Amino acid sequence: MEIIKVANAEEGGKKAFELIKEGMNNGAKVLGLATGSTPETLYKEMTASDLDFTDMTSVNLDEYVGLGGDDDQSYRYFMNDQLFNKKPFKNTYVPNGKAEDLAAECKHYESIIDSNPIDIQILGIGQNGHIGFNEPGTPLDSLTHVVELTESTINANKRNFEKVEDVPTRAVSMGIGSIMKGKKMILMAYGEAKADAIKGMIDGAVSVDLPASALKNHSDVVVIIDEAAASKL
Ligand code: GLP
Repeated sequence: MEIIKVANAEEGGKKAFELIKEGMNNGAKVLGLATGSTPETLYKEMTASDLDFTDMTSVNLDEYVGLGGDDDQSYRYFMNDQLFNKKPFKNTYVPNGKAEDLAAECKHYESIIDSNPIDIQILGIGQNGHIGFNEPGTPLDSLTHVVELTESTINANKRNFEKVEDVPTRAVSMGIGSIMKGKKMILMAYGEAKADAIKGMIDGAVSVDLPASALKNHSDVVVIIDEAAASKL
């Protein structure tokens, strides 16, 4: 793992953007994208840039079950709002949280990942070490699946909803195995709330107890962190 320490999320966004630009110059065609507050500065850099994404495909990590693109708390809405409406891509994939047959949707999404191999995967990290919505205990070889969110994740994400009862309790998420198929990983983390997860991921063993630790088995991982997220290393 290559660790890049930055002063703040703005600088982190710039670093991640440089890596994406370099990747695209070297032929990257598919970006694995993430939601949450962490990648927002990266998306700002992307929208402000003169880079053209109209030949690019994006594959997002996850979506809440029950929410569609018109719901402003859905991850599809977030991505359209933060990035795709400003910088059009050729194709953008986000799991369909309103699919009637969720098991079929998971299979279908995994086939999308296989037909669009991800060149660069952007990741945030949950306070409990989750990546995508893969909570502790998720098998490291898991593929796209339906996830029951933990209380800690529901609480961490409730800020985007009016009340905690409105936060969906399930999500469709790329599995850890699906994420690991990507060629290059860029994981970003800012703030003290992420310090334990970052310490566990970098200094701990590979374990289902901390899903992000699976990245230790990947050969090309860049971790971009600020001082607060790095404070327990
Ligand atoms: C959610 C998302 C993750 C994200 C995490 C952290 O659980 N599914 O992809 O990494 O939140 O969010 P934030 O970046 O807002 O701290």
